[in-house]
Amino acid sequence: MTDQLSPEIVAPHIRGRFGKPHLFEPECDSTQLLLLGSGLPEGAVATTDHQTGGRGRLGRRWEETPASSVLVSVMLRPPRERHLPELSLVAALAATEAIEAATGLSAQIKWPNDVMLNRRKVAGILSELSDGSVVVGIGINVNQTREELPTDAPTEPGSLRTLTGSTYDRAALLGSLLFRLERCYDGWRRGGLDDLYGELGARDFLRGRRVTVDGEAATALQVLRDGRLEIETDAGMISSLESGEVRFER
Ligand code: BTN
Repeated sequence: MTDQLSPEIVAPHIRGRFGKPHLFEPECDSTQLLLLGSGLPEGAVATTDHQTGGRGRLGRRWEETPASSVLVSVMLRPPRERHLPELSLVAALAATEAIEAATGLSAQIKWPNDVMLNRRKVAGILSELSDGSVVVGIGINVNQTREELPTDAPTEPGSLRTLTGSTYDRAALLGSLLFRLERCYDGWRRGGLDDLYGELGARDFLRGRRVTVDGEAATALQVLRDGRLEIETDAGMISSLESGEVRFER
């Protein structure tokens, strides 16, 4: 099988610091577990072609069919002064850009960690902290058919294939993702979210949408420069959310 995320196949697509060293298991529980507590340097990555215990946000599972997806965890060692919850937005921006470059379509970021293409969730980000380092896990649905996508996901899922009709080289997409993640991360290290705000703001999926937050109806106003989501409830109260889950009306 040539379509694998193994180091030999991915190496020709690595253009920067991120991607070295590269741990790979054809199948594993979760790529997050390969890196958490590993002591590996910043930029180290772990990939697999299938996870049996893929981890999603809020204790959910992240499921995929074998050899269909980009499944990667990246070791980051951010400076102390940075606000770590912002990293999910930084990684979501990189994933959005990589998906746009591959498909030629506009993708959006649904705060705080989803990547949307044609109103379907095609990628998710999970950031986990351990001993001052952050392992950022990124899952992109690439070549799944409609039947292979989860049926019980809170946000309707799609894959690049179901949304464009084409299949994609996962190793090339991974290389592009890591290169863009490095660029976004370096910008964030230097100047925080302010450095990326133009690109983030332009891809804000929830802006102006009717949403539900903890069962309460509201309108999402915007992702703020500090990474919070500003909302206005139907009672006219404006507030900003640090984390949580927002459902949107189709
Ligand atoms: C979410 O949307 O809930 C986040 C999904 C994150 C999935 C990725 S796949 C690679 C890495 N390994 C995991 O177990 N989870 C992340």
